[in-house]
Amino acid sequence: MTTTPRVQAEVPVIAIDGPGGSGKGTVARAVARRLGWHLLDSGALYRLVGVAAGLMGISLDDGPGLARLASGLDASFDSSADSERGILLAGRDATDQIRSEAAGEAASRVAAIPAVRAALVARQRGFRKEPGLVADGRDMGSTIFPDAALKVFLTADVEERARRRHNQLKQKGIDVSLAALSKDMAARDRRDAERTVAPLRACPDARILDSTGIVVDEVVLQVLRWAAEAYPEVAYRMPVTEFVPEPFSRGGSSMCPPRWWLSARA
Ligand code: C5P
Repeated sequence: MTTTPRVQAEVPVIAIDGPGGSGKGTVARAVARRLGWHLLDSGALYRLVGVAAGLMGISLDDGPGLARLASGLDASFDSSADSERGILLAGRDATDQIRSEAAGEAASRVAAIPAVRAALVARQRGFRKEPGLVADGRDMGSTIFPDAALKVFLTADVEERARRRHNQLKQKGIDVSLAALSKDMAARDRRDAERTVAPLRACPDARILDSTGIVVDEVVLQVLRWAAEAYPEVAYRMPVTEFVPEPFSRGGSSMCPPRWWLSARA
């Protein structure tokens, strides 16, 4: 049987937004891998603009200069969830450079400039390709993919987020104080939440998931369960046991499987 390719707007999208250190990057990658979908790490784009500005001597206060830089950004990264490297800036590998705290800080400053955000919209939407896309960032659900049938707002308390980031950096051999990290993180949250354009906040139709104290596999599974509700094709693809909801799998009191579970097997 042949199927007609869907128009881009019909390609399924899972939008995962939330503050830094909430685990959305890890969760988005794991979900994309499990589904075999593409991945958009939108923060990497803002980080690339910040790093490129530094290399080209463009001030982080120069809004028009940064917007020009963003619209012609000579950067590429592949959307496969299996490749964590290969982020190129002007043909050179910038994967490690963009992951520094300094690049994160620069990203947060350039991201507050409306013209920079506008310049990156089409590029982000271009990642929406068959068979589907998992996109993580701050405004995936509110601005870039407002029609996504699943929007998740992933959060965790600031101390836990700072601890996670601290561990990540330690694994990379980067030594920073936990207290300083926690302070920087709170300041960055504030800037992201208070900016006038695309401020960081959960959109009304997002599912809120607080990952404080929850292991990443559980978070991934919850997102996959929601994905199966939002997109029947996900329910069809995944083994039934993965999707038996909590009260079911643990012998709880629910006597009725949810509608998506039944319809997926109808
Ligand atoms: O997610 P990540 O920490 O890589 O993002 C770096 C910065 O880029 C964030 O602090 C935020 O200011 C900005 N950002 C954004 N919108 C996105 C993704 C990232 O404003 N969709």
